[in-house]
Amino acid sequence: MMKIKPFKLERYYTLYEHSAKYSICNSDCEAMTIKELLRLEKGAEEEFHNTWLGYTETQGNPSLRRDISAIYSEVLSKQITVCTGAQEPIFLFSHAVLNSGDEVIVQTPCYQSLQSVPESIGCKVLGWNVRYEGGRPTFVIDDLKELVNSKTKVIYLNAPHNPTGFLFTKEEQQAIIELARTYGIIVFCDEVYRELEHSPEFAIPAFADAYEYGVSVGVMSKSYGLPGLRIGWVATQNQPILDKIAILKEYTTICNSAPSEFLAGVALRNRQVILDRNLGIVQKNLPLYEAFFKKYSNLFSWHKPNAGPIAFVKMLFDDDDMGFAGRVLKEQSVLILPGGVYGHKGYFRIGFGRKNIAEDLKQFEHFVLANLV
Ligand SMILES: Cc1ncc(COP(=O)(O)O)c(C=O)c1O
Repeated sequence: MMKIKPFKLERYYTLYEHSAKYSICNSDCEAMTIKELLRLEKGAEEEFHNTWLGYTETQGNPSLRRDISAIYSEVLSKQITVCTGAQEPIFLFSHAVLNSGDEVIVQTPCYQSLQSVPESIGCKVLGWNVRYEGGRPTFVIDDLKELVNSKTKVIYLNAPHNPTGFLFTKEEQQAIIELARTYGIIVFCDEVYRELEHSPEFAIPAFADAYEYGVSVGVMSKSYGLPGLRIGWVATQNQPILDKIAILKEYTTICNSAPSEFLAGVALRNRQVILDRNLGIVQKNLPLYEAFFKKYSNLFSWHKPNAGPIAFVKMLFDDDDMGFAGRVLKEQSVLILPGGVYGHKGYFRIGFGRKNIAEDLKQFEHFVLANLV
């Protein structure tokens, strides 16, 4: 069996997500039914029922790839490979380009596959660690410069970032690209929370558009709120990387689910409607958290992010996040995501892309009032 560490975050969700009554930590936006999705496009319901349940193209349905390419300014539909969620492209890309002994850099804390998959291949993984400046999470470009060297093969990024919500500015993005270009390093950016910037001025280009050795991963799961489709993709202008991914995909999933590919196309052709709806939910939830954290500023500290549906909250009363999350779950049936699943003590992750937040935050407050005040 491949030697890979258990995925702490996904283990946590597997164990508790479906039994907790309340949750304030999800990273996906509010989902919808197939019926609601099909209503977004005239004729889509009939077409869905006529979807052919044969194998589809390994690279992904050409019509879906055209719909995905509309998200990008430079990447063409032939430069996209559709995959199962975002997890599969992280796995395939890493196995496509890395060999044992290669050196890579990853923003830490991170969504664990960005670190554990390269480690399982035998790579040396260096962490570009988050810093907190006045309570605000930041990744300092000079820190990255210290880590980069002639052996660096890939810089793994996640922008907007899970779990901190941090997003690079355009200037920071350019600085990363220039640094990578100097050494011929591939920049792999997990962009699953892209297009959910809280204001348009925070948006930055996709790395696959901005850099010839840039690889972007996107997915239907997060900003679009459709994780049940299990449709994601990898986009890059670098053809050799795509070719290697295609060879590996024939060993993992061969092709995608035909009904899901069709439904993802409907969603993407109506993506502005879906994004507006989801951003509306985020904008409604953020003031609830702002009020909550202001009220309990002696217990928690957070920085409202510029983008995405998640943030990382510092516990000021204790640093045993795993114990705290366990008690909140046991006593109030509220799920929070402890920093321990990221190897980052004293923090927990919150989410604000779901409709349930007002009620579920109240349940969390009951716990706080009964135990911490
Ligand atoms: C940063 C990041 N990348 C990838 C994924 C995996 O996405 P999917 O469930 O669509 O495979 C997640 C899910 O939480 C994530 O947060």
